[in-house]
Amino acid sequence: MTEEIVLLKEAELQQLMQTKLEKAGLTSEHAKEVGKHLTYADLRGVHSHGAVRVEYYAERIAKGGTTIEPNFEFEKTGSSTGVFHGDNAIGHVACRKALDYGIDMAKETGVAIIGVSKMGHSGMLSYYVDLAAQQDLVALAVCQSDPMAVPFGGTEPYYGTNPIAFSAPTNSARPIIFDMATTVQAWGKILDARSKNNPIPDTWAVDGNGEATTDPNKVQGLLPISGPKGYGLMMMVDILSGSLLGLPFGKHVSSMYADLSSGRNLGQLFILINPAYFTDLDQFKENLSTMIDELHESKPATGVEQVYYPGELSEIRYQKHLEEGIPVAKSIYDYLMSDQVHFNKYDHSDAFAEK
Ligand code: NAI
Repeated sequence: MTEEIVLLKEAELQQLMQTKLEKAGLTSEHAKEVGKHLTYADLRGVHSHGAVRVEYYAERIAKGGTTIEPNFEFEKTGSSTGVFHGDNAIGHVACRKALDYGIDMAKETGVAIIGVSKMGHSGMLSYYVDLAAQQDLVALAVCQSDPMAVPFGGTEPYYGTNPIAFSAPTNSARPIIFDMATTVQAWGKILDARSKNNPIPDTWAVDGNGEATTDPNKVQGLLPISGPKGYGLMMMVDILSGSLLGLPFGKHVSSMYADLSSGRNLGQLFILINPAYFTDLDQFKENLSTMIDELHESKPATGVEQVYYPGELSEIRYQKHLEEGIPVAKSIYDYLMSDQVHFNKYDHSDAFAEK
């Protein structure tokens, strides 16, 4: 059965989410920023990181696992380095504030490497690298997430879906943004298959014996992209955004769902590079635009309509949704419109239990 969809304008969706998060207990400044971030994810068509998350955040806020009035502190640790202490605030806000310090630093010194230490879930990484690229910076962002991926050849989850996002400015109004989890599929896609009673491809996940499964209800571990290579990348992300900041690593990273009354102590890292310190900025942007044109002109494989640059499909969806409205599942819309803060759905110790 296909779910009913409601089309919402950007401002309307943002306001609905802000209102719900304020009702859960977030300050209006923080709720506004999270609403903006989640709307951006839905605009880009990455619905796994948009409005669908509000209820989870609301439950965590209501149960005390998100610091409402955090003592944020930016510690400058070198001429181009710093650590932003997030005090287990909601990650979207901690990261946004940390990024602003990084942007100023990279403009001034040519590069900035900023760690965000101890925060909640930080959402879709494209949001941050997009803002950096709009300031003519090249940006990389990586972050930890809860252990749901099995090591290559293993049966027990060890690393998270540990995403990597990259951006670079171009000659046109919008930058290049590429952003991916290091697992074949995000957990949200398994949930989607569960809710629809659909099988999943046998390349996505494994059961409790480490064997490939097509039954979304049997999933006990997500698979890294491209076997050992994705496995290596998720380790790299874990080291850069966890151990480098003195935070828990690998399977010790806190679960999204266990104990919604405590902070998650997650980490994120931004690497911001000012191209003007390495080459001529205008020429750099022109070259990237030429690269995009050449990719568009390259001959597509049989059955493929067009070659896109990495990340372009999200950009196309972004522009389409801005013009035509953002598709939101009716059940999520009904929740946002209701008086209910949450339905006590997310607090459970088994990360794979969610329906
Ligand atoms: P995805 O699989 O939907 O897309 C990955 C990338 O490939 C995107 O940049 C997309 O635009 C690009 N792409 C897809 N098809 C393409 C094509 N035909 N041509 C060119 N480019 C194409 O994304 P995924 O891996 O499901 O990640 C979703 C989001 O989840 C990301 O934004 C990530 O930041 C976020 N995330 C956040 C976590 C957190 O704890 N904060 C944890 C894991 C993921």
